[in-house]
Formats: sequence, structure tokens, C-alpha cells
Amino acid sequence: MSQTLTIALTKGRILEETLPLLAAAGIEPLEDMEKSRKLVFETSQEGVRLLLLRGADVPTYVQFGAADMGVSGKDTLMENGADGLYEPLDLNIARCKLMTAGVKGATTPAGRIRVATKYVNIAKQYYAAQGRQTDIIKLYGAMELAPIMNLADEIVDIVDTGNTLRANGLEPREFIADISSRLIVNKASMKMKHVQIQTIIDHIAKAVKAD
Ligand code: PRP
Ligand code: MG
Repeated sequence: MSQTLTIALTKGRILEETLPLLAAAGIEPLEDMEKSRKLVFETSQEGVRLLLLRGADVPTYVQFGAADMGVSGKDTLMENGADGLYEPLDLNIARCKLMTAGVKGATTPAGRIRVATKYVNIAKQYYAAQGRQTDIIKLYGAMELAPIMNLADEIVDIVDTGNTLRANGLEPREFIADISSRLIVNKASMKMKHVQIQTIIDHIAKAVKAD
């Protein structure tokens, strides 16, 4: 007997790379999730539903048990904390690095510096651990503009190809963390639906590309 199970996902590249992993666990959406305007999707497994959320909302749904499982970037998990959830599997997709960056060739002032980022908590912790004093400026995107427009001395952001930094005259400075998408599971769900969830984890683990 299978129980109902809700899995929280996000649109775009993560969805594209997650669907084959779910398919390996026998879970396939009954319609095209990228094309539809719906936010809840039935799947080939009765009782298993997929949700389409904003990335930053996936851990929230899983923490509160509104979803049993989800796929979330390590950056989001680091920024928001991971209370109430397990992180059993690195899916090895959407890989990139969390870095500091600044204007190419410019030297960062020695004293208190201004750091623009959407990763406010990560940035605070990172600079504090280095004993550097910061004023953190919260942005929601296009962080690379901030040093050019003299809004900040440095940014903390995701770097993948480095193209966005280069195109805006910035350079990567310090490495903060390796980022990839993680499978997350609500702690209570892991107890209550253990066999069902562990079976899915095992199938996905086998399908994850070793690297
Ligand atoms: C992301 C990230 C970097 C860029 C990294 O931005 O914030 O700006 O991609 O990729 P790259 O190293 O291959 O250039 P995104 O395009 O998601 O826009 P946003 O930051 O404005 O949300
Ligand atoms: Mg960006």
C-alpha cells in the first residue's frame, strides 16, 4: 500500500535535470511541467504529486511538511538553515561555486567593506569568520552591477562559467563553497513514510551521475 507523497521542485534547469532522476524511481509527471501554468502535478505513481515552487520556497515547504521531499540548491539551504529536514543525497546537478568577487584589478579597502549579495547570512558568516567587518547590502539579483556602480566593494554570488563576472569587468576573489542541488526530506515524513521515501532515495542514488 503506497501513501500519498508530495515532492517540491523548481522550474528551469533543475527541473530538467531532476525529472530523469525521478523517472528512474518510476515517478513521471502526467503532463509537461515546463509548459503548463499549473503548480501541482499528478504522476505515473498514484498518490505521488509534484509541486513547482520558487527555489527559495522549497526548503520552507519541506520544513513545514507541506511537501515530504524536495530538490534544493545547497546555496539556499546554507542561507536559510536546514532545521526540520534531512539532506540525504547530493544530486550532483546545477553545480557551481559560491565566491566573492570585485572589480578586476581593484584592491578592496582594508577596513570595513560593503558587500552586496542575496546571500546575506552566508556573507555575514563568511566575512566574520575572517575577522573582516562588513556592511551587507541585500540585493535580489544582478549582483554584478553593484561594484561597478560603486554600491559595494565586493559581492557574494554564484559563479558557474564566470561569463557574467567577465562581461561586467569583475574578477572572482575568494572561494566560499561548492554548490549543487540536494535531495531534502522532511524529518517526520522520513519516519512516517520511511519505506516509500527510502525506496525513492535508493533509485535516485543509483541514477545520480557519479563524477
Ligand atoms: C546567476 C548568478 C550569476 C550567474 C553565474 O545569475 O547569480 O550572476 O548566474 O553564471 P555564470 O558564471 O555562468 O555567468 P542569474 O542569471 O540567475 O540572474 P540573477 O542573479 O539576476 O537572478
Ligand atoms: Mg546573477
